[in-house]
Amino acid sequence: MSYTVNTKIQEAFAKDVQEGLSAKFKHIPSKYFYDKTGDSLFQAIMKMPEYYPTRCEYEVFKIQKKRLTAAFQIQNNEIDLIELGAGDGYKTKVLLLHLIETGINVNYIPVDISANVLDILEEGLRKEIPGLKVNGINADYFDALSDLNMISEKQKVILFLGSNVGNLSNDSAIEFFSKIASLCKKGDMLLTGFDFKKDPRVIQLAYDDPTGITRNFNLNLLTRMNRELGANFIVDQFSHYPVYDPISGTAKSFLVSLKKQGVNFQALDKSFHFGKWELVHTEISQKYDLEIISNLAEKSGFNLINNYFDCRFFFVDSLWSSFE
Ligand code: TRP
Repeated sequence: MSYTVNTKIQEAFAKDVQEGLSAKFKHIPSKYFYDKTGDSLFQAIMKMPEYYPTRCEYEVFKIQKKRLTAAFQIQNNEIDLIELGAGDGYKTKVLLLHLIETGINVNYIPVDISANVLDILEEGLRKEIPGLKVNGINADYFDALSDLNMISEKQKVILFLGSNVGNLSNDSAIEFFSKIASLCKKGDMLLTGFDFKKDPRVIQLAYDDPTGITRNFNLNLLTRMNRELGANFIVDQFSHYPVYDPISGTAKSFLVSLKKQGVNFQALDKSFHFGKWELVHTEISQKYDLEIISNLAEKSGFNLINNYFDCRFFFVDSLWSSFE
């Protein structure tokens, strides 16, 4: 399947930018990082030596795929795997391949805000796992959630991998997980990836690599606004500033205006003023510990079934069920 521009996402982009840049403390939601250039820069980030989460989760799946998929307790040899924020599916392919090899009938439903990355994912899957049924959904996963229980009557495992959950505050995560719990039927499960708190220097570097890939990823948001919203940002009049607070466990990314400047948006029929050193907040990436994770499960109405760790305890995939 090839995805065309989703106008709902385009309209939401204009509205969110308009709102976020009008606020006292400017902000733009991180989901808009992922246009075509953003997708390929994020793929480069995932391959950087400093960015450990992708490799850790890949290791968890590679080494523990048998235990993990056994815990799904698949009924009637068939399952719907719904992945929220699937990206290029690099890690998920390990689980998909294992399930197919063990004779499970898998219907894979990746949901992603980027049509481009869904095309890349589906093309890769067609080559690497022929026989897998794939039905991608190009949407913001918050919007797609309520439609998910209409997909089929089959048992479902919902995957929310990588650092996706980290983009939510703990309160929003509870709200999001509770909504998923309310859509779960008996036998359905949720598998979420959580990045642990660790040496703050390791985390800081993962979001501020010396080669500048993360810098380009952040600044690409300005290029996207220039292209899609007719803005006139001069990209090198901004820099990026990532900061990690080891007490709260929150990593944040900002764009910083290097001078006093005005930026005009044709599509919004509006200009925004940026003061010298004014910040635009673009990303939260929360880090966790086991206590917070079990607390999130409990507050959202889930039972924690098991945790699957990488060998350095940098990352965990936590499997939850909403039934005893
Ligand atoms: N949300 C992802 C994460 O926390 C993606 C990401 C990696 C990211 N590096 C980034 C987002 C830098 C913004 C800026 O790992």
